[in-house]
Amino acid sequence: MTVQPHNNADPSNSILREFIAEQIKRSREGRISFADYMNWVLYHPQQGYYATPGPRIGAGGDFFTAPHLGADFGELLAEQFVEMWEILQYPSRFTLVEMGAGQGILAADILQYIRRQYPRCFEAIDYIIIEKSPALKAEQQQKLNDTIGSTISVRWCDWDDLADASVTGCFFSNELVDALPVHLVTVRERQLRELYVSLNNVSLNNHTGGDHSINANFSEIEGNLSTPQLQTYFETVKIDLLSDIYPEGYRTEINLDALDWITTVADKLQKGFVLTIDYGYTAERYYSPTRSGGTLQCYYQHRHHNNPYINIGKQDITAHVDFTALEKQGELSGLKVIGFTQQALFLMSLGLGDRIAAVSQTSGKNLSEILRIREALHSLIDPMGLGKFGVLIQSKGLETEKQIQLKGLTIPEF
Ligand SMILES: C[S@@+](CC[C@H](N)C(=O)[O-])C[C@H]1O[C@@H](n2cnc3c(N)ncnc32)[C@H](O)[C@@H]1O
Repeated sequence: MTVQPHNNADPSNSILREFIAEQIKRSREGRISFADYMNWVLYHPQQGYYATPGPRIGAGGDFFTAPHLGADFGELLAEQFVEMWEILQYPSRFTLVEMGAGQGILAADILQYIRRQYPRCFEAIDYIIIEKSPALKAEQQQKLNDTIGSTISVRWCDWDDLADASVTGCFFSNELVDALPVHLVTVRERQLRELYVSLNNVSLNNHTGGDHSINANFSEIEGNLSTPQLQTYFETVKIDLLSDIYPEGYRTEINLDALDWITTVADKLQKGFVLTIDYGYTAERYYSPTRSGGTLQCYYQHRHHNNPYINIGKQDITAHVDFTALEKQGELSGLKVIGFTQQALFLMSLGLGDRIAAVSQTSGKNLSEILRIREALHSLIDPMGLGKFGVLIQSKGLETEKQIQLKGLTIPEF
């Protein structure tokens, strides 16, 4: 990991930088876990990346997600939800819980499509959003007010608002799990060590009135594991980082929050599905000995790099998702795996191919518009990009789990 000193060109949020420096100084050992660091830089309630207003996702922001490429992604997902409603025997209340809803675009696309195409299903829908960022929550409310209006009431809930085993329907997320804070670990002399964030070059600038501003650079230091869960994680996913196939200094991430998250989801679900879309791998591929630097990535103005200690509060930080961990932890919590596929196959099975074919035949659109739409549709299945995202579908409470054939998990016809 390159740890560059900050300089005048670094647009870091200085209030946030000082806040984190203060947390480190106050800590018993002069260090915080990387997960705590990532949590503050992304989700500090006032200063974090996702808390401060401004475009984060889309052309004017730092990165794109699938809903920003047009309504097709949401509409195809909606097709899958309608099939789930049918499998659940058309319940009069069918709850869709979107977790981490960004700017609310996906929710609007799903709901508008179901209202138009499947009015009976639309009447049954109880749409809930669980969102951590107050700023994004406000954007979602505005977006849904403008598009859906009062035809359906969307509810914003915290986990505590949902009773255990209260949901019949589907919990779903797109690029939520990669945004959860991760711990960093490294292999040193055949031992698993944790990487912490510490302070380097601290200077206090005295201003009049006794105001102190801390000019701090962050650096990484190694130490013992902060929790034994980091060790048991690897037992759960059956990976032995201490075997000699892993090189000295191998570093990677562990997403313990993802385990808590899937457990909570399983607890709240009475009957139905959990659909998770994100970039990531099975544990075997994630923790491949050749991936010796891990998967941590930062996104700033549509460029990516691997230095989380610059652009503090101004850049996104993510890590790939270990889908095996979600499967195993889900099983421990009562979820069954229905299938795991790639986004390209998933969307093609749900009808993306027909949409691509139909674009060229659309009358009344000029050539540049047709090319733009085609490019957007192709981006959703790009094997080097969104197309290789993982799609994991788990279920709970269904009698015939083994026989369930969801449309999105069938082999698409070409
Ligand atoms: C990378 S964005 C993806 C947004 C959206 N799903 C999309 O596809 O454009 C991650 C989203 O998850 C939210 N988020 C992060 N951690 C969360 C948590 N623990 N609970 C709920 N939302 C969370 C962020 O605020 C943001 O809305």
